[in-house]
Amino acid sequence: MPATTLLTKPPRTPLIGASILAADFAKMGREARSALESGADFLHFDVMDGHFVPNLTMGPDMCRSLHRELPDALIDVHLMVTDPGLFAEPFAAAGAGNLTFHVEAVEDPAALAAAIHELDMTAGIAINPPTDVSRIMPVLDAVDMVLIMSINPGFAGQTFMPEVLDTVRKVASALRPDQRLAIDGGVNRATAPACLAAGCDVLLAATAIYGSEDYAEAVAALRGEAGIVSGSQ
Ligand code: DX5
Ligand code: ZN
Repeated sequence: MPATTLLTKPPRTPLIGASILAADFAKMGREARSALESGADFLHFDVMDGHFVPNLTMGPDMCRSLHRELPDALIDVHLMVTDPGLFAEPFAAAGAGNLTFHVEAVEDPAALAAAIHELDMTAGIAINPPTDVSRIMPVLDAVDMVLIMSINPGFAGQTFMPEVLDTVRKVASALRPDQRLAIDGGVNRATAPACLAAGCDVLLAATAIYGSEDYAEAVAALRGEAGIVSGSQ
């Protein structure tokens, strides 16, 4: 299965993306593989430029290395950068399967989504908690996935902002069945059920997986699988 189809192919069951931002960067290959072997559906790859958000993370070279190490894994790149258009080609060449950019960072989201599609990747659009949902409603048709931030982006380990669930519900009711709705930030076993109930079908989690002792148990808990005792994480 080509990695680019994971987000759009049936069945439409919820997907779990392991955000490698909270992995041990000195062991990145092993950490990425381990999340996938523990049941995560794909890797979420947070790119920060120190300008759009106040942190620096990783770029196309790390993506290329992970793709070489795990060629069948979907690498879902989340661009938290001021000029996302600059990075579409480098990430396509580095093996990214999905590229998500922020509505706050672009003037013509539909044009960037089309450029991403031309590069044979799926396209996502992300929205920060303070941004009015009306900014993305006109361009929903152009993308494969919408990513609702449930923290202010920049760092893993922040607290989930429940007020974004209103945005989730509004977007969920406007999406086609073949589009995905992701939530990112503070998603854990305690907050995941409300995200799913509000209409999300992609859960992105860093700390809830990489901060746990047992990645498989953590992924199962995010899925709400039976036998998992609810805790604070
Ligand atoms: C934050 C990133 C998130 C982050 C989530 O700006 O976009 O993907 O890794 O981290 P947790 O799951 O710890 O909130
Ligand atoms: Zn992210």
